[in-house]
Amino acid sequence: MCGIVGYIGRQPAAPILVEGLNRLEYRGYDSAGLSVLGPSGATTLRRVGRVRDLEAALPRRLAGTVGIGHTRWATHGPATEANAHPHRSEDDRVAVVHNGIIDNAAALRAGLEAEGVTFSSDTDTEVVAHLVRRSDAATLDERVLDAVDRLVGTYALAVVDQADPDRIVVARNGSPLIIGVGDKEMFVASDVAALVRHTSSVIHLDDGELASVTARGYRTFTRDAADTGRTPTTIDVEAQDVELGAHASFMAKEIAEQPETVARMLGGRLDTRFGTARLDGLNITPRELRAFTRVKILGCGSAFYVGELGALMIEELARIPAHAEAASEFRYRNPIIEPDTLYIAVSQSGETADTAFAVREIQRKGGRVIGLVNVVGSTIARECDGGIYLHAGPEVSVASTKALTHMGVGFALLALLLGRVRDLSVADGQRIIAGLQRLPDDIAAVLAGEDRIAEVARGLATAQSLFFIGRVRGFPVAREGAQKLKEISYRHAEAYQTSELKHGPLALIEESLPTVAVIPQDELTERNVAAAEQIRARGGRVVAVTHPGVELDGVADHRIDVPHNEPELDPILLMIPMQLLALHAAMTRGLDIDRPRNLAKSVTVE
Ligand code: AGP
Repeated sequence: MCGIVGYIGRQPAAPILVEGLNRLEYRGYDSAGLSVLGPSGATTLRRVGRVRDLEAALPRRLAGTVGIGHTRWATHGPATEANAHPHRSEDDRVAVVHNGIIDNAAALRAGLEAEGVTFSSDTDTEVVAHLVRRSDAATLDERVLDAVDRLVGTYALAVVDQADPDRIVVARNGSPLIIGVGDKEMFVASDVAALVRHTSSVIHLDDGELASVTARGYRTFTRDAADTGRTPTTIDVEAQDVELGAHASFMAKEIAEQPETVARMLGGRLDTRFGTARLDGLNITPRELRAFTRVKILGCGSAFYVGELGALMIEELARIPAHAEAASEFRYRNPIIEPDTLYIAVSQSGETADTAFAVREIQRKGGRVIGLVNVVGSTIARECDGGIYLHAGPEVSVASTKALTHMGVGFALLALLLGRVRDLSVADGQRIIAGLQRLPDDIAAVLAGEDRIAEVARGLATAQSLFFIGRVRGFPVAREGAQKLKEISYRHAEAYQTSELKHGPLALIEESLPTVAVIPQDELTERNVAAAEQIRARGGRVVAVTHPGVELDGVADHRIDVPHNEPELDPILLMIPMQLLALHAAMTRGLDIDRPRNLAKSVTVE
């Protein structure tokens, strides 16, 4: 979704803003713009399309060491130059960039128009520029405070004013905003990716917080103008983490990184002697953990599907009833919150609006919620009562891959801990730990077969529609496989429980509709093979994602073998070929792998 970047210091601002905007491209956007305050006033430039179009339009030497930039994802009004940010006051004095949605923009606009203000865009954001300009407060800090006092909705705002040219004032409510602290220079961003090349010292603003940023420092304060005295923390993200290197796409890079990142995630978290997991960040005592009688997992999209896998792991290892639900639905149905239920919010970005809302709803009703989150310091990570960081490193591609694998590993660790405070034996705990320790090598073994999987994907890429089937542990794998293919190769794919095929969808089977069947070596192998046989008998093509040694009796046109780990952990590995199938199908179709149409990396609007 939209991205914000800001710079104030000694260097020319424009190249730094453009570089920051380039790094925010992955979030999805349709237009971009920037304003730079220079010796002869402000220069604002906006373009529909890519950041490189904006860069190409910039004057060769744009003087000015203060500026703000933005990538826009259209919400109010179409993707046009007039609707791109920054938005300005009528006299160009004030410029504003904004992420989020101002709910009362229509009423504010009507009021401003009645006072004679002429609007030049359809956006909700433009009201902010006019409100700041029309405030008669003495300082820019106060003028922005006056403006945000009148706003209802979500926002991350960055404001510059030619009347106070050595300052950027920012405000946050419901949309992430970060200040980066440099040496006599400061940065503002909606995402660490935009400032990681310049500094690792950051402040994550809280909702309701503002900051007045100059080249030499910053002041953070509340909407009542009370100082909050925030100090920076150090983030552990390197510039190369958000660079492509030798890879053709970020998705390819992120898939390839998994053996290494999973090994890193497990470091220090396995207690081999007692066969359990060390998860200090949960902030829950073993006695409290034992007292939970139910687990409820909430996430969106792929995070929800891995949540379904997590629920199965928890039921299998800890024997606690566990269930996953789409956070986007949960929030709208007045959910019953139970004191003895452990709620878990799962999110790569930690900024998904629906999941964040679910967390607040649980807390409002007195529930206890922990987070499985990748982005350190993100909204969900900070608002949860404790949690497990996924430590997958930055994930740039819109299609999530390594973060989902890490979610699977995070759930395995949690299930192990929950099991070990209950009835899971030390020996079984040690069996799971041994399986977790083998995971990095097992993932590497799947990746070693990429060429063969690519060949299968090329065959699937021409199909208009596909089935992905699996049962019990294999079903979330099938759901995620279908999701990944839809997302980046724009082919229709439907996930079904293998057991449900015969209750209807079997009627659709024909040669042109291939099926990807998850057939692990487990207690259900024979039934899964029999279902694949039914597909074949009706002329359907079958690609089996399976384990070595599974006898497919000729029911599959292709087989993709994945190393057999422990049954509870196998689904984590079975998801890896799904990533590669989607990647190579999309590559075959010549599509933009990292920026699929209509999608954004973190869905921060409702
Ligand atoms: C994954 O490939 C998708 N882009 C999407 O379903 C994603 O998992 C979902 O939007 C949730 O995102 P989050 O993990 O950042 O909360």
